[in-house]
Amino acid sequence: MPNKTIRLAPSILSADFARLGEEVRAIEAAGCDLVHFDVMDNHYVPNLTIGPLVCEAIRPHVQIPIDVHLMVEPVDALVPMFAKAGANIITFHPEASRHVDRTLQLIRDNGCKAGIVFNPATPLAWMDHIMDKLDIVLLMSVNPGFGGQGFIDSTLAKLREARSRIDAHMAQGGQPIWLEVDGGVKTNNIGAIAAAGADTFVAGSAVFSAPDADKGYRTVMQALRQAATAA
Ligand code: DX5
Ligand code: ZN
Repeated sequence: MPNKTIRLAPSILSADFARLGEEVRAIEAAGCDLVHFDVMDNHYVPNLTIGPLVCEAIRPHVQIPIDVHLMVEPVDALVPMFAKAGANIITFHPEASRHVDRTLQLIRDNGCKAGIVFNPATPLAWMDHIMDKLDIVLLMSVNPGFGGQGFIDSTLAKLREARSRIDAHMAQGGQPIWLEVDGGVKTNNIGAIAAAGADTFVAGSAVFSAPDADKGYRTVMQALRQAATAA
């Protein structure tokens, strides 16, 4: 079944952090659908980035939802903090939470869409008993921690498998679940990624390496959307 819903979520990990307000305004003006916000703690992943204060600081600069990707361990204490800071979507890695079902419920109780993130080697079986609590499933197509890495090709088969689980769930009357992909997404592979069943695409370096925010971001966003839609 072709999937024509395309959501583009630039990862601000590759943005100019000294000008973050301008950067998020520029990607919204360029036509993206979500702001992807990568939170790293130098514990779950070997890098350190941004927290709820920065989320709160960019919130007034954009209307579109903020998609918070938690690469932290433990998870739960940060959920209400990000919800208060204006997050709309919160995803986390199931290995980093002692009680995955409880964390999903906590995210929803805080008024956000909830999802889990699969590392390249994490099996999709984690989905089996929590389907009704998922608004999003995010497949990592790189190992988490850094922008600018190459897309891992075996993610395509994993996306097809996740897509068929989600479609089967929805065919049985289940709620819609977005299928997001994160890592190494570019204009030259987004078509194949969309064809494998993804509907939501994180792209960091592909977007922010464009030379000029006003025209460059818009050009990349259009190229990504066109290639994904054509698939
Ligand atoms: C990696 C992050 C990604 C990353 C994507 O741990 O979760 O969101 O910023 O960057 P690119 O698109 O450059 O691979
Ligand atoms: Zn991410």
